[in-house]
Amino acid sequence: MCGIIGYVGSSGETLGTLLQGLSNLEYRGYDSAGVALAASPLTVYKKQGEVDALEDAIPNPAPEGHAGIGHTRWSTHGPPSDANAHPHTDCHDRVAVVHNGIIDNYQELRDELTASGHEFRSETDTEVVPHLIESFLDNGANPEEAFRSAIDRISGSYAIAAVFDETETVYAVRNQSPLVLGLGDDGTYLASDVPAFIEYTDRVVYLDDGEFARLERDEVVVTDSDGAAVEKSVETIDWDPEDAGKSGYRHYMLKEIHEQPHAVRQCLRGRVSERDESVLFEELPNLDADGPVHFVACGTSYHAALYGECLLQEQGTAAQSFVASEYDIDRIPVDEETLVIGVTQSGETADTLRALRGANRSGATTLAVTNVVASSAARECDDVVYIRAGPEISVAATKSFVGQQITLALVANALAGGSSPAFRRALRNLPDQIQRILDESAARSVATTFIGSDAYFFIGRNYHVPVALEGALKMKEITYEHAEGFAAGELKHGPLALVTRKTPVIALVTGDEPTATKILGNVSEVAARDAPVIAVTDSPGGVGQVADRVLVVPTTHPWLVPVLVNVQLQLLAYWTADELERPIDKPRNLAKSVTVE
Ligand code: M6R
Repeated sequence: MCGIIGYVGSSGETLGTLLQGLSNLEYRGYDSAGVALAASPLTVYKKQGEVDALEDAIPNPAPEGHAGIGHTRWSTHGPPSDANAHPHTDCHDRVAVVHNGIIDNYQELRDELTASGHEFRSETDTEVVPHLIESFLDNGANPEEAFRSAIDRISGSYAIAAVFDETETVYAVRNQSPLVLGLGDDGTYLASDVPAFIEYTDRVVYLDDGEFARLERDEVVVTDSDGAAVEKSVETIDWDPEDAGKSGYRHYMLKEIHEQPHAVRQCLRGRVSERDESVLFEELPNLDADGPVHFVACGTSYHAALYGECLLQEQGTAAQSFVASEYDIDRIPVDEETLVIGVTQSGETADTLRALRGANRSGATTLAVTNVVASSAARECDDVVYIRAGPEISVAATKSFVGQQITLALVANALAGGSSPAFRRALRNLPDQIQRILDESAARSVATTFIGSDAYFFIGRNYHVPVALEGALKMKEITYEHAEGFAAGELKHGPLALVTRKTPVIALVTGDEPTATKILGNVSEVAARDAPVIAVTDSPGGVGQVADRVLVVPTTHPWLVPVLVNVQLQLLAYWTADELERPIDKPRNLAKSVTVE
Protein backbone atom coordinates (compact mmCIF):
# COMPACT_ATOMS: atom_id res chain seq x y z
CA MET A 1 0.00 0.00 0.00
CA CYS A 2 1.11 3.59 -0.52
CA GLY A 3 2.70 5.52 2.34
CA ILE A 4 2.10 9.07 3.56
CA ILE A 5 4.30 11.34 5.69
CA GLY A 6 3.60 14.92 6.70
CA TYR A 7 5.50 17.38 8.91
CA VAL A 8 5.10 20.88 10.29
CA GLY A 9 8.06 22.25 12.24
CA SER A 10 11.44 23.88 11.76
CA SER A 11 12.03 25.03 8.25
CA GLY A 12 15.50 23.53 8.00
CA GLU A 13 14.18 20.14 9.09
CA THR A 14 11.21 19.68 6.78
CA LEU A 15 12.78 18.09 3.73
CA GLY A 16 15.04 15.80 5.76
CA THR A 17 12.12 14.67 7.91
CA LEU A 18 9.99 13.89 4.87
CA LEU A 19 12.77 11.93 3.13
CA GLN A 20 13.53 9.99 6.31
CA GLY A 21 9.79 9.23 6.62
CA LEU A 22 9.68 7.94 3.05
CA SER A 23 12.70 5.70 3.68
CA ASN A 24 10.98 4.36 6.79
CA LEU A 25 7.93 3.52 4.69
CA GLU A 26 9.90 1.65 2.00
CA TYR A 27 9.00 -1.71 3.59
CA ARG A 28 5.44 -1.24 2.34
CA GLY A 29 6.56 -1.57 -1.27
CA TYR A 30 6.27 1.28 -3.79
CA ASP A 31 7.15 2.22 -7.32
CA SER A 32 7.58 6.01 -7.07
CA ALA A 33 8.03 8.68 -4.42
CA GLY A 34 7.61 12.41 -4.01
CA VAL A 35 7.51 15.36 -1.63
CA ALA A 36 5.88 18.79 -1.59
CA LEU A 37 7.18 21.72 0.47
CA ALA A 38 4.84 24.54 1.39
CA ALA A 39 7.54 27.01 0.41
CA SER A 40 7.01 30.14 -1.60
CA PRO A 41 6.37 29.02 -4.28
CA LEU A 42 4.98 25.56 -3.47
CA THR A 43 7.64 23.09 -4.58
CA VAL A 44 7.14 19.47 -5.64
CA TYR A 45 9.76 16.83 -6.40
CA LYS A 46 8.65 13.38 -7.53
CA LYS A 47 10.24 10.49 -9.30
CA GLN A 48 9.50 6.98 -10.48
CA GLY A 49 11.69 4.46 -8.66
CA GLU A 50 13.23 4.50 -5.23
CA VAL A 51 13.57 7.19 -2.60
CA ASP A 52 17.29 7.41 -3.52
CA ALA A 53 16.29 8.46 -7.05
CA LEU A 54 14.05 11.15 -5.57
CA GLU A 55 16.86 12.43 -3.37
CA ASP A 56 19.15 12.63 -6.40
CA ALA A 57 16.54 14.77 -8.17
CA ILE A 58 16.37 17.37 -5.40
CA PRO A 59 18.76 20.34 -5.82
CA ASN A 60 21.23 21.28 -3.13
CA PRO A 61 20.47 23.62 -1.46
CA ALA A 62 16.77 22.78 -1.60
CA PRO A 63 13.98 25.28 -0.96
CA GLU A 64 12.85 25.47 2.65
CA GLY A 65 9.38 25.52 4.17
CA HIS A 66 7.86 24.87 7.57
CA ALA A 67 5.33 22.33 6.28
CA GLY A 68 5.50 19.48 3.80
CA ILE A 69 4.04 16.15 2.72
CA GLY A 70 5.55 13.07 1.11
CA HIS A 71 4.33 9.86 -0.47
CA THR A 72 5.46 6.46 -1.65
CA ARG A 73 3.11 5.25 -4.39
CA TRP A 74 2.03 1.70 -5.18
CA SER A 75 0.26 2.09 -8.52
CA THR A 76 -3.46 1.51 -8.84
CA HIS A 77 -4.63 4.03 -11.47
CA GLY A 78 -1.99 4.56 -14.15
CA PRO A 79 1.40 2.84 -14.34
CA PRO A 80 4.47 3.88 -12.36
CA SER A 81 5.88 7.13 -13.83
CA ASP A 82 7.12 10.55 -12.72
CA ALA A 83 3.79 12.10 -13.75
CA ASN A 84 1.68 9.59 -11.82
CA ALA A 85 3.82 9.85 -8.68
CA HIS A 86 2.35 11.90 -5.81
CA PRO A 87 2.06 14.74 -4.75
CA HIS A 88 -0.40 16.04 -7.35
CA THR A 89 -1.13 19.72 -7.79
CA ASP A 90 -3.83 21.97 -9.23
CA CYS A 91 -3.39 23.96 -12.45
CA HIS A 92 -1.58 26.83 -10.73
CA ASP A 93 0.46 24.91 -8.14
CA ARG A 94 -1.34 26.42 -5.17
CA VAL A 95 -2.05 23.11 -3.46
CA ALA A 96 -0.31 19.71 -3.38
CA VAL A 97 -2.07 16.52 -2.38
CA VAL A 98 -1.05 12.96 -1.46
CA HIS A 99 -3.58 10.14 -1.21
CA ASN A 100 -3.79 6.50 -0.21
CA GLY A 101 -6.83 4.50 -1.32
CA ILE A 102 -9.16 4.69 -4.27
CA ILE A 103 -11.55 7.47 -5.27
CA ASP A 104 -14.58 5.70 -6.70
CA ASN A 105 -16.17 8.66 -8.48
CA TYR A 106 -12.95 10.09 -9.93
CA GLN A 107 -13.95 9.60 -13.56
CA GLU A 108 -17.11 11.69 -13.33
CA LEU A 109 -15.25 14.37 -11.33
CA ARG A 110 -12.42 14.39 -13.85
CA ASP A 111 -14.91 14.81 -16.73
CA GLU A 112 -16.63 17.66 -14.88
CA LEU A 113 -13.37 19.44 -14.00
CA THR A 114 -11.95 18.99 -17.50
CA ALA A 115 -15.14 20.48 -18.95
CA SER A 116 -14.68 23.52 -16.74
CA GLY A 117 -11.11 24.06 -17.98
CA HIS A 118 -8.87 22.13 -15.56
CA GLU A 119 -5.85 20.46 -17.14
CA PHE A 120 -4.80 17.07 -15.81
CA ARG A 121 -1.19 15.95 -15.86
CA SER A 122 -1.52 12.35 -14.64
CA GLU A 123 -3.68 9.28 -15.08
CA THR A 124 -4.39 8.97 -11.35
CA ASP A 125 -7.68 9.12 -9.51
CA THR A 126 -5.95 11.35 -6.92
CA GLU A 127 -5.44 14.32 -9.20
CA VAL A 128 -9.14 15.24 -9.05
CA VAL A 129 -8.59 16.33 -5.43
CA PRO A 130 -6.21 19.29 -6.00
CA HIS A 131 -8.33 20.44 -8.95
CA LEU A 132 -11.47 20.28 -6.82
CA ILE A 133 -9.70 22.25 -4.08
CA GLU A 134 -8.62 24.79 -6.70
CA SER A 135 -12.20 25.24 -7.87
CA PHE A 136 -13.26 26.11 -4.30
CA LEU A 137 -10.27 28.46 -3.82
CA ASP A 138 -11.33 30.21 -7.03
CA ASN A 139 -14.76 30.74 -5.48
CA GLY A 140 -13.25 32.52 -2.50
CA ALA A 141 -12.86 29.67 0.02
CA ASN A 142 -9.84 29.70 2.33
CA PRO A 143 -7.55 26.63 2.25
CA GLU A 144 -9.36 24.77 5.04
CA GLU A 145 -12.81 25.43 3.59
CA ALA A 146 -11.64 24.45 0.11
CA PHE A 147 -10.12 21.23 1.47
CA ARG A 148 -13.31 20.26 3.30
CA SER A 149 -15.55 21.13 0.36
CA ALA A 150 -13.41 19.02 -1.98
CA ILE A 151 -13.59 16.04 0.36
CA ASP A 152 -17.38 16.40 0.41
CA ARG A 153 -17.41 15.72 -3.31
CA ILE A 154 -15.43 12.48 -3.33
CA SER A 155 -16.47 8.95 -2.45
CA GLY A 156 -14.23 5.98 -1.85
CA SER A 157 -11.50 5.02 0.56
CA TYR A 158 -8.89 7.61 1.34
CA ALA A 159 -6.25 9.02 3.58
CA ILE A 160 -5.44 12.43 2.12
CA ALA A 161 -3.01 15.15 3.12
CA ALA A 162 -2.59 18.57 1.52
CA VAL A 163 -0.32 21.59 1.77
CA PHE A 164 -0.90 25.03 0.28
CA ASP A 165 1.64 27.55 -0.96
CA GLU A 166 2.88 30.09 1.55
CA THR A 167 1.33 28.34 4.55
CA GLU A 168 2.67 26.47 7.56
CA THR A 169 -0.14 23.98 7.90
CA VAL A 170 -0.91 20.42 6.76
CA TYR A 171 -4.57 19.42 6.28
CA ALA A 172 -5.64 15.77 6.37
CA VAL A 173 -8.67 13.52 6.41
CA ARG A 174 -9.29 9.80 6.57
CA ASN A 175 -11.96 7.39 5.43
CA GLN A 176 -11.22 3.64 5.52
CA SER A 177 -7.49 4.16 5.12
CA PRO A 178 -5.28 4.70 8.17
CA LEU A 179 -3.77 7.99 9.30
CA VAL A 180 -1.93 8.67 12.51
CA LEU A 181 -0.71 11.99 13.94
CA GLY A 182 2.55 12.37 15.89
CA LEU A 183 3.17 14.97 18.58
CA GLY A 184 6.87 15.87 18.81
CA ASP A 185 8.75 18.45 20.85
CA ASP A 186 9.76 20.40 17.76
CA GLY A 187 6.88 19.79 15.41
CA THR A 188 3.89 17.69 14.47
CA TYR A 189 3.76 14.70 12.16
CA LEU A 190 1.26 12.80 10.10
CA ALA A 191 1.62 9.38 8.50
CA SER A 192 -0.19 6.39 7.13
CA ASP A 193 1.78 4.28 9.55
CA VAL A 194 3.74 5.00 12.75
CA PRO A 195 7.15 3.83 11.42
CA ALA A 196 7.27 6.91 9.20
CA PHE A 197 8.08 9.13 12.19
CA ILE A 198 9.02 6.67 14.94
CA GLU A 199 12.47 8.22 15.53
CA TYR A 200 10.96 11.65 16.21
CA THR A 201 8.14 10.91 18.63
CA ASP A 202 6.31 8.07 20.32
CA ARG A 203 3.21 10.13 21.19
CA VAL A 204 0.46 9.51 18.67
CA VAL A 205 -3.20 10.20 17.95
CA TYR A 206 -5.09 7.84 15.66
CA LEU A 207 -7.63 9.45 13.36
CA ASP A 208 -10.98 7.71 12.89
CA ASP A 209 -13.06 7.55 9.73
CA GLY A 210 -14.61 10.89 8.80
CA GLU A 211 -12.20 12.93 10.94
CA PHE A 212 -10.20 15.90 9.67
CA ALA A 213 -6.89 17.10 11.12
CA ARG A 214 -5.13 20.43 10.92
CA LEU A 215 -1.46 20.26 11.83
CA GLU A 216 0.33 23.37 13.04
CA ARG A 217 3.85 23.53 14.38
CA ASP A 218 2.83 23.16 18.03
CA GLU A 219 -0.63 21.60 17.90
CA VAL A 220 -2.95 19.30 15.99
CA VAL A 221 -6.67 20.04 15.82
CA VAL A 222 -9.05 17.20 15.03
CA THR A 223 -12.60 17.91 13.87
CA ASP A 224 -15.52 15.83 12.67
CA SER A 225 -17.19 16.16 9.28
CA ASP A 226 -19.31 19.08 10.58
CA GLY A 227 -16.25 20.93 11.80
CA ALA A 228 -16.90 20.30 15.52
CA ALA A 229 -13.78 19.70 17.61
CA VAL A 230 -13.12 16.06 18.61
CA GLU A 231 -11.29 15.21 21.84
CA LYS A 232 -8.69 12.56 21.00
CA SER A 233 -6.60 10.53 23.39
CA VAL A 234 -2.83 10.59 23.03
CA GLU A 235 -1.24 7.15 23.06
CA THR A 236 2.36 6.17 23.62
CA ILE A 237 3.92 3.68 21.22
CA ASP A 238 6.39 1.21 22.70
CA TRP A 239 7.73 -0.43 19.52
CA ASP A 240 11.35 -0.53 18.62
CA PRO A 241 12.14 0.63 15.07
CA GLU A 242 12.63 -2.98 13.90
CA ASP A 243 9.06 -3.91 14.92
CA ALA A 244 7.69 -0.68 13.59
CA GLY A 245 7.86 -1.71 9.92
CA LYS A 246 5.48 -4.50 10.77
CA SER A 247 3.07 -2.14 12.53
CA GLY A 248 3.61 -4.03 15.76
CA TYR A 249 3.03 -7.51 14.27
CA ARG A 250 5.79 -10.04 14.82
CA HIS A 251 6.01 -10.87 11.12
CA TYR A 252 4.93 -9.38 7.82
CA MET A 253 2.97 -12.57 7.19
CA LEU A 254 0.80 -11.99 10.25
CA LYS A 255 0.39 -8.34 9.34
CA GLU A 256 -0.66 -9.30 5.81
CA ILE A 257 -3.10 -11.92 7.10
CA HIS A 258 -4.65 -9.16 9.22
CA GLU A 259 -4.80 -6.81 6.24
CA GLN A 260 -7.19 -9.15 4.42
CA PRO A 261 -10.47 -7.43 5.38
CA HIS A 262 -9.02 -4.23 3.92
CA ALA A 263 -7.66 -6.05 0.86
CA VAL A 264 -11.10 -7.52 0.14
CA ARG A 265 -12.74 -4.09 0.47
CA GLN A 266 -10.21 -2.63 -1.93
CA CYS A 267 -10.76 -5.47 -4.37
CA LEU A 268 -14.52 -4.95 -4.33
CA ARG A 269 -14.38 -1.15 -4.38
CA GLY A 270 -16.16 0.21 -7.42
CA ARG A 271 -16.85 -3.32 -8.60
CA VAL A 272 -19.85 -4.03 -6.41
CA SER A 273 -22.20 -1.09 -6.25
CA GLU A 274 -22.63 0.43 -2.77
CA ARG A 275 -26.22 1.30 -3.67
CA ASP A 276 -27.89 -1.68 -5.32
CA GLU A 277 -25.17 -4.33 -4.92
CA SER A 278 -24.99 -4.99 -8.65
CA VAL A 279 -21.60 -6.20 -9.91
CA LEU A 280 -19.98 -3.57 -12.14
CA PHE A 281 -16.83 -5.05 -13.63
CA GLU A 282 -16.11 -2.24 -16.01
CA GLU A 283 -12.47 -3.22 -16.62
CA LEU A 284 -13.64 -6.17 -18.67
CA PRO A 285 -16.30 -4.85 -21.05
CA ASN A 286 -15.61 -7.32 -23.86
CA LEU A 287 -14.88 -10.43 -21.87
CA ASP A 288 -16.56 -13.60 -23.07
CA ALA A 289 -15.96 -17.27 -22.59
CA ASP A 290 -17.77 -18.83 -25.51
CA GLY A 291 -14.76 -21.07 -26.03
CA PRO A 292 -12.64 -22.93 -23.48
CA VAL A 293 -10.96 -21.10 -20.60
CA HIS A 294 -7.44 -22.09 -19.54
CA PHE A 295 -5.86 -20.86 -16.32
CA VAL A 296 -2.06 -20.79 -16.09
CA ALA A 297 -0.34 -20.12 -12.77
CA CYS A 298 2.19 -21.37 -10.21
CA GLY A 299 2.16 -22.20 -6.51
CA THR A 300 -0.45 -20.36 -4.50
CA SER A 301 -1.69 -18.61 -7.63
CA TYR A 302 -2.28 -22.04 -9.19
CA HIS A 303 -4.51 -22.89 -6.25
CA ALA A 304 -6.47 -19.70 -6.87
CA ALA A 305 -6.73 -20.75 -10.51
CA LEU A 306 -8.14 -24.14 -9.46
CA TYR A 307 -10.76 -22.29 -7.41
CA GLY A 308 -11.63 -20.11 -10.44
CA GLU A 309 -11.87 -23.26 -12.54
CA CYS A 310 -14.47 -24.75 -10.14
CA LEU A 311 -16.60 -21.60 -10.33
CA LEU A 312 -16.52 -21.46 -14.11
CA GLN A 313 -17.22 -25.15 -14.51
CA GLU A 314 -20.26 -24.80 -12.27
CA GLN A 315 -21.56 -22.22 -14.73
CA GLY A 316 -21.09 -24.55 -17.68
CA THR A 317 -17.79 -23.12 -18.97
CA ALA A 318 -15.14 -25.58 -20.14
CA ALA A 319 -12.45 -24.33 -17.75
CA GLN A 320 -9.16 -26.03 -16.93
CA SER A 321 -6.16 -25.02 -14.82
CA PHE A 322 -2.57 -25.75 -15.77
CA VAL A 323 0.59 -25.50 -13.74
CA ALA A 324 2.24 -22.83 -15.89
CA SER A 325 5.53 -24.70 -16.29
CA GLU A 326 3.58 -27.58 -17.88
CA TYR A 327 1.58 -25.44 -20.29
CA ASP A 328 2.95 -26.58 -23.61
CA ILE A 329 1.14 -25.19 -26.65
CA ASP A 330 2.63 -27.93 -28.84
CA ARG A 331 0.68 -30.45 -26.81
CA ILE A 332 -2.35 -28.58 -25.48
CA PRO A 333 -4.94 -27.34 -28.01
CA VAL A 334 -5.06 -23.52 -27.81
CA ASP A 335 -6.55 -21.33 -30.52
CA GLU A 336 -8.39 -18.04 -31.15
CA GLU A 337 -11.44 -19.35 -29.30
CA THR A 338 -9.48 -19.94 -26.08
CA LEU A 339 -9.35 -17.44 -23.23
CA VAL A 340 -6.12 -17.93 -21.26
CA ILE A 341 -6.11 -16.38 -17.80
CA GLY A 342 -2.71 -15.92 -16.15
CA VAL A 343 -3.02 -15.67 -12.38
CA THR A 344 0.11 -14.16 -10.87
CA GLN A 345 0.54 -11.93 -7.84
CA SER A 346 3.81 -10.43 -9.04
CA GLY A 347 3.07 -10.50 -12.75
CA GLU A 348 6.74 -11.47 -13.22
CA THR A 349 6.82 -15.25 -12.65
CA ALA A 350 8.87 -16.67 -15.50
CA ASP A 351 6.84 -19.89 -15.91
CA THR A 352 3.56 -17.98 -16.07
CA LEU A 353 4.92 -15.39 -18.51
CA ARG A 354 6.24 -18.15 -20.78
CA ALA A 355 2.82 -19.84 -20.78
CA LEU A 356 1.04 -16.55 -21.53
CA ARG A 357 3.46 -15.72 -24.34
CA GLY A 358 2.76 -19.13 -25.89
CA ALA A 359 -0.96 -18.47 -25.64
CA ASN A 360 -0.51 -15.05 -27.28
CA ARG A 361 1.38 -16.70 -30.16
CA SER A 362 -1.45 -19.20 -30.61
CA GLY A 363 -3.95 -16.40 -31.11
CA ALA A 364 -5.78 -16.95 -27.81
CA THR A 365 -7.17 -13.98 -25.88
CA THR A 366 -5.10 -13.48 -22.72
CA LEU A 367 -6.12 -11.95 -19.42
CA ALA A 368 -3.76 -11.18 -16.53
CA VAL A 369 -5.10 -11.37 -12.98
CA THR A 370 -2.32 -9.69 -11.03
CA ASN A 371 -1.46 -7.47 -8.08
CA VAL A 372 1.22 -5.37 -9.73
CA VAL A 373 0.24 -2.52 -12.01
CA ALA A 374 2.25 -2.42 -15.24
CA SER A 375 3.96 -5.74 -14.44
CA SER A 376 5.09 -7.86 -17.41
CA ALA A 377 1.89 -9.95 -17.30
CA ALA A 378 -0.24 -6.79 -17.16
CA ARG A 379 1.56 -5.28 -20.13
CA GLU A 380 1.70 -8.35 -22.31
CA CYS A 381 -1.86 -9.67 -21.95
CA ASP A 382 -4.82 -8.43 -23.98
CA ASP A 383 -6.69 -7.50 -20.79
CA VAL A 384 -5.76 -7.08 -17.17
CA VAL A 385 -7.65 -7.05 -13.92
CA TYR A 386 -5.93 -6.01 -10.70
CA ILE A 387 -6.55 -7.76 -7.42
CA ARG A 388 -5.60 -4.62 -5.43
CA ALA A 389 -4.22 -6.50 -2.42
CA GLY A 390 -1.42 -3.97 -1.85
CA PRO A 391 2.24 -4.93 -1.65
CA GLU A 392 2.96 -8.30 -0.11
CA ILE A 393 6.36 -8.52 1.60
CA SER A 394 6.26 -11.96 3.16
CA VAL A 395 7.35 -14.72 0.78
CA ALA A 396 4.27 -16.71 1.78
CA ALA A 397 1.33 -15.43 -0.26
CA THR A 398 -1.70 -14.68 1.91
CA LYS A 399 -3.67 -11.55 1.14
CA SER A 400 -2.85 -11.88 -2.55
CA PHE A 401 -4.48 -15.35 -2.58
CA VAL A 402 -7.66 -13.95 -1.06
CA GLY A 403 -7.54 -11.11 -3.58
CA GLN A 404 -7.18 -13.63 -6.38
CA GLN A 405 -10.14 -15.66 -5.08
CA ILE A 406 -12.39 -12.59 -4.94
CA THR A 407 -11.26 -11.31 -8.32
CA LEU A 408 -11.82 -14.71 -9.94
CA ALA A 409 -15.28 -14.93 -8.36
CA LEU A 410 -16.04 -11.54 -9.95
CA VAL A 411 -14.60 -12.67 -13.29
CA ALA A 412 -16.75 -15.81 -13.11
CA ASN A 413 -19.72 -13.54 -12.50
CA ALA A 414 -18.83 -11.29 -15.38
CA LEU A 415 -18.51 -14.29 -17.68
CA ALA A 416 -21.86 -15.62 -16.49
CA GLY A 417 -23.44 -12.25 -17.21
CA GLY A 418 -24.60 -11.35 -13.69
CA SER A 419 -24.91 -12.63 -10.17
CA SER A 420 -27.49 -13.43 -7.56
CA PRO A 421 -28.43 -10.91 -4.85
CA ALA A 422 -27.38 -13.50 -2.27
CA PHE A 423 -23.86 -13.64 -3.71
CA ARG A 424 -23.56 -9.88 -3.80
CA ARG A 425 -24.73 -9.55 -0.22
CA ALA A 426 -22.27 -12.25 0.83
CA LEU A 427 -19.43 -10.35 -0.86
CA ARG A 428 -20.28 -7.23 1.09
CA ASN A 429 -20.29 -9.12 4.39
CA LEU A 430 -17.03 -10.90 3.68
CA PRO A 431 -14.53 -8.37 5.15
CA ASP A 432 -16.37 -8.35 8.49
CA GLN A 433 -16.54 -12.14 8.50
CA ILE A 434 -12.79 -12.40 7.89
CA GLN A 435 -12.28 -9.94 10.72
CA ARG A 436 -14.37 -12.15 12.99
CA ILE A 437 -12.15 -15.12 12.23
CA LEU A 438 -9.02 -13.05 12.91
CA ASP A 439 -10.47 -11.95 16.24
CA GLU A 440 -11.80 -15.30 17.40
CA SER A 441 -9.75 -18.07 15.75
CA ALA A 442 -8.62 -20.97 17.90
CA ALA A 443 -5.85 -21.76 15.37
CA ARG A 444 -3.06 -20.78 17.78
CA SER A 445 -4.07 -23.26 20.44
CA VAL A 446 -4.70 -25.97 17.81
CA ALA A 447 -1.22 -25.33 16.39
CA THR A 448 0.37 -25.70 19.81
CA THR A 449 -1.51 -28.93 20.52
CA PHE A 450 -0.17 -30.70 17.43
CA ILE A 451 3.48 -29.59 17.47
CA GLY A 452 5.68 -32.68 17.04
CA SER A 453 3.41 -34.40 14.52
CA ASP A 454 4.92 -36.52 11.75
CA ALA A 455 2.94 -34.76 9.00
CA TYR A 456 -0.22 -32.75 8.35
CA PHE A 457 -2.83 -33.81 5.79
CA PHE A 458 -5.46 -31.46 4.41
CA ILE A 459 -8.61 -32.83 2.78
CA GLY A 460 -11.59 -31.21 1.10
CA ARG A 461 -14.09 -31.68 -1.67
CA ASN A 462 -15.31 -29.53 -4.53
CA TYR A 463 -14.30 -25.83 -4.08
CA HIS A 464 -12.31 -26.87 -1.04
CA VAL A 465 -9.80 -29.03 -2.86
CA PRO A 466 -7.83 -25.92 -3.97
CA VAL A 467 -7.94 -24.62 -0.41
CA ALA A 468 -6.76 -27.97 0.98
CA LEU A 469 -3.80 -27.79 -1.43
CA GLU A 470 -3.13 -24.19 -0.43
CA GLY A 471 -3.36 -25.00 3.31
CA ALA A 472 -0.75 -27.73 2.85
CA LEU A 473 1.52 -25.50 0.77
CA LYS A 474 1.39 -22.76 3.40
CA MET A 475 2.11 -25.27 6.16
CA LYS A 476 5.12 -26.86 4.44
CA GLU A 477 6.51 -23.57 3.14
CA ILE A 478 6.84 -21.79 6.49
CA THR A 479 7.03 -24.64 9.03
CA TYR A 480 9.31 -27.07 7.09
CA GLU A 481 7.00 -29.83 8.30
CA HIS A 482 5.66 -32.42 5.87
CA ALA A 483 2.18 -31.43 4.71
CA GLU A 484 0.00 -32.58 1.81
CA GLY A 485 -3.39 -31.68 0.47
CA PHE A 486 -5.77 -34.15 -1.20
CA ALA A 487 -9.21 -34.36 -2.68
CA ALA A 488 -10.88 -36.15 0.24
CA GLY A 489 -12.15 -38.93 -2.04
CA GLU A 490 -8.57 -39.80 -3.00
CA LEU A 491 -7.54 -40.64 0.55
CA LYS A 492 -8.64 -44.25 0.36
CA HIS A 493 -6.80 -44.68 -2.97
CA GLY A 494 -3.37 -44.39 -1.40
CA PRO A 495 -2.62 -41.63 1.10
CA LEU A 496 -4.61 -43.40 3.83
CA ALA A 497 -1.57 -45.66 4.21
CA LEU A 498 0.29 -42.69 5.71
CA VAL A 499 -2.39 -41.84 8.26
CA THR A 500 -1.46 -42.57 11.89
CA ARG A 501 -2.13 -41.06 15.30
CA LYS A 502 0.86 -38.76 14.63
CA THR A 503 -0.64 -37.24 11.45
CA PRO A 504 -3.37 -34.69 12.14
CA VAL A 505 -5.90 -34.51 9.32
CA ILE A 506 -7.30 -31.06 8.67
CA ALA A 507 -10.73 -31.73 7.16
CA LEU A 508 -12.63 -28.95 5.41
CA VAL A 509 -16.13 -29.98 6.38
CA THR A 510 -18.43 -27.70 4.47
CA GLY A 511 -21.09 -27.82 1.82
CA ASP A 512 -24.60 -29.13 1.40
CA GLU A 513 -25.72 -32.69 0.88
CA PRO A 514 -24.36 -34.99 -0.52
CA THR A 515 -20.90 -33.37 -0.16
CA ALA A 516 -21.31 -32.90 3.60
CA THR A 517 -22.15 -36.56 4.17
CA LYS A 518 -19.27 -37.72 2.00
CA ILE A 519 -16.69 -35.58 3.74
CA LEU A 520 -17.99 -36.75 7.12
CA GLY A 521 -17.44 -40.29 5.83
CA ASN A 522 -13.82 -39.38 5.05
CA VAL A 523 -13.42 -37.91 8.53
CA SER A 524 -14.64 -41.20 10.01
CA GLU A 525 -12.13 -43.12 7.86
CA VAL A 526 -9.18 -41.23 9.35
CA ALA A 527 -10.62 -41.10 12.87
CA ALA A 528 -10.93 -44.89 12.77
CA ARG A 529 -7.16 -45.02 12.17
CA ASP A 530 -6.59 -42.88 15.30
CA ALA A 531 -5.56 -39.78 13.35
CA PRO A 532 -6.43 -36.58 15.17
CA VAL A 533 -9.04 -34.61 13.19
CA ILE A 534 -9.12 -30.83 13.01
CA ALA A 535 -12.38 -29.84 11.32
CA VAL A 536 -12.66 -26.45 9.64
CA THR A 537 -16.37 -25.97 9.25
CA ASP A 538 -19.31 -23.61 9.01
CA SER A 539 -21.57 -26.15 10.75
CA PRO A 540 -19.76 -27.35 13.87
CA GLY A 541 -22.77 -29.29 15.21
CA GLY A 542 -22.36 -32.65 13.38
CA VAL A 543 -18.61 -32.85 12.93
CA GLY A 544 -18.00 -31.61 16.48
CA GLN A 545 -18.90 -35.17 17.64
CA VAL A 546 -16.09 -36.75 15.60
CA ALA A 547 -13.39 -34.09 15.39
CA ASP A 548 -10.75 -33.51 18.05
CA ARG A 549 -10.67 -29.78 17.41
CA VAL A 550 -12.92 -27.46 15.41
CA LEU A 551 -12.05 -24.19 13.67
CA VAL A 552 -15.30 -22.43 12.90
CA VAL A 553 -16.02 -20.10 9.98
CA PRO A 554 -19.17 -17.97 9.59
CA THR A 555 -21.81 -19.13 7.15
CA THR A 556 -21.87 -17.47 3.76
CA HIS A 557 -22.57 -18.11 0.09
CA PRO A 558 -21.06 -21.48 -0.99
CA TRP A 559 -18.59 -19.77 -3.36
CA LEU A 560 -17.13 -17.75 -0.52
CA VAL A 561 -16.79 -20.42 2.17
CA PRO A 562 -13.35 -21.40 0.80
CA VAL A 563 -12.18 -17.81 1.29
CA LEU A 564 -13.06 -17.98 4.99
CA VAL A 565 -11.74 -21.51 5.45
CA ASN A 566 -8.41 -20.44 3.97
CA VAL A 567 -7.98 -17.72 6.62
CA GLN A 568 -8.14 -20.37 9.36
CA LEU A 569 -5.55 -22.45 7.48
CA GLN A 570 -3.24 -19.45 7.12
CA LEU A 571 -3.43 -18.89 10.88
CA LEU A 572 -2.83 -22.57 11.60
CA ALA A 573 0.32 -22.57 9.44
CA TYR A 574 1.48 -19.26 10.90
CA TRP A 575 1.13 -20.28 14.55
CA THR A 576 2.72 -23.68 13.91
CA ALA A 577 5.73 -21.98 12.31
CA ASP A 578 5.87 -19.44 15.12
CA GLU A 579 5.88 -22.18 17.74
CA LEU A 580 8.71 -23.90 15.83
CA GLU A 581 10.59 -20.56 15.66
CA ARG A 582 10.97 -20.64 11.89
CA PRO A 583 12.06 -17.55 9.91
CA ILE A 584 8.49 -17.04 8.78
CA ASP A 585 8.85 -14.14 6.37
CA LYS A 586 11.83 -15.59 4.53
CA PRO A 587 11.61 -19.38 4.40
CA ARG A 588 14.79 -21.13 3.36
CA ASN A 589 15.36 -21.67 -0.38
CA LEU A 590 12.32 -19.63 -1.45
CA ALA A 591 11.99 -16.27 -3.20
CA LYS A 592 9.04 -13.92 -3.43
CA SER A 593 9.19 -13.63 -7.17
CA VAL A 594 10.54 -16.53 -9.21
CA THR A 595 11.90 -15.06 -12.42
CA VAL A 596 13.63 -18.17 -13.78
CA GLU A 597 11.96 -21.18 -15.44
O1 M6R B 1 3.85 -13.99 -8.28
P1 M6R B 1 3.12 -15.27 -8.53
O2 M6R B 1 1.73 -15.28 -8.00
O3 M6R B 1 3.14 -15.63 -10.00
O4 M6R B 1 3.97 -16.37 -7.78
C1 M6R B 1 3.68 -17.71 -7.92
C2 M6R B 1 4.30 -18.55 -6.81
O5 M6R B 1 5.70 -18.46 -6.85
C3 M6R B 1 3.81 -18.11 -5.42
O6 M6R B 1 2.41 -18.14 -5.37
C4 M6R B 1 4.37 -19.01 -4.30
O7 M6R B 1 3.88 -20.29 -4.44
C5 M6R B 1 3.96 -18.39 -2.97
N1 M6R B 1 5.02 -17.57 -2.47
C6 M6R B 1 3.59 -19.39 -1.94
O8 M6R B 1 3.22 -18.77 -0.75
